[in-house]
Amino acid sequence: MKIVLTTPDDWHVHLRQGEALESYAQTHATGFGRVMAMPNTIPPLVTVEHLVEYRKHAESAASGLTVLPAFRLMPTTSAEDVAKLAQFGVPAGKYYPDGATTNSSGGLVHWRQIEEALAAMEEHDVVLSIHGENPSAPVLEREEAFLPVLAEIRQSFPKLRIILEHVSTAAGVHYVMEDQGPTAATITLHHLLFTLDDLLGGSLDAHLFCKPVVKTAADREALTQRILASDSRFFFGSDSAPHPVVKKQSGRAPAGSYSAPVLLPALAQWFEEHQALEKMQPFLCEFGAAFYGYEANTGRVILEKKNWEVPELVDGCVPLLAGTTLSWKVLRREG
Ligand code: NCD
Ligand code: ZN
Repeated sequence: MKIVLTTPDDWHVHLRQGEALESYAQTHATGFGRVMAMPNTIPPLVTVEHLVEYRKHAESAASGLTVLPAFRLMPTTSAEDVAKLAQFGVPAGKYYPDGATTNSSGGLVHWRQIEEALAAMEEHDVVLSIHGENPSAPVLEREEAFLPVLAEIRQSFPKLRIILEHVSTAAGVHYVMEDQGPTAATITLHHLLFTLDDLLGGSLDAHLFCKPVVKTAADREALTQRILASDSRFFFGSDSAPHPVVKKQSGRAPAGSYSAPVLLPALAQWFEEHQALEKMQPFLCEFGAAFYGYEANTGRVILEKKNWEVPELVDGCVPLLAGTTLSWKVLRREG
């Protein structure tokens, strides 16, 4: 038995920087054609020059991978900065609330700090990608507490394309469904598979600790239903976020789960279990590209039904689902 997909896209991924970037990019290239790389690198990706260099580094390391880096919106980002980035064809800018997640310090305290930049993004049709959590709310309520900010931005910029990244709650799903403007959300693999009980109901699983944290079964069900409804506002963004094993096992684990090594097989299994294999292609290969205004990729990725055990370590990190057996495997990529 096989699954043949148009080469998928991953609209939210962390490839980091330096030498490690090369192996993370290569791992992603085994299953994906195009990735939106997040700019919370050290230092952050802010200017056209940063983005050009970053893209060149990642693409030369991983043949077959198109890397679209987002720029990071800083309190100092001006309308002129956005115009320059737009002229260069940068598809998205990323909004990190200050301190909301890994490498987000120096981020935004209030959206009005970038009001002019947002106006320029609307004018030049650059997508606003948002880590939608209010870091001063209790951890499980952070996404819901951020939704009023989304509503204010929407009211001020009716045509701005906005993505609520890694939506994790029923409230977030509801907001996206009801929004009158061009709003979408990415959904990760880990928020589809796991809940808080998997994270800390037994022994603490640092490798599943990410922001936003995995939530309740009801929240997970809300995400599931959007995918089963083939709602084009909800598409795939893995938020694969590698952290070296020593850091994850340090007692002060940073947020982020490394899902890249298992994404397509685990998603195939999820769609099969939900008797919805035909919904895998639009979720992974069509809806996100359409929202961003790109054509679908031209190649194909073929998966075969075959058991394999997820290694305990990949690229120096413990991958999601390490040590478990998956029933689908990537056979090959063509084109
Ligand atoms: C991400 C990281 O490690 O860069 N961590 C995470 O928990 N998801 C940042 C992010 O997307 O929040
Ligand atoms: Zn992320």
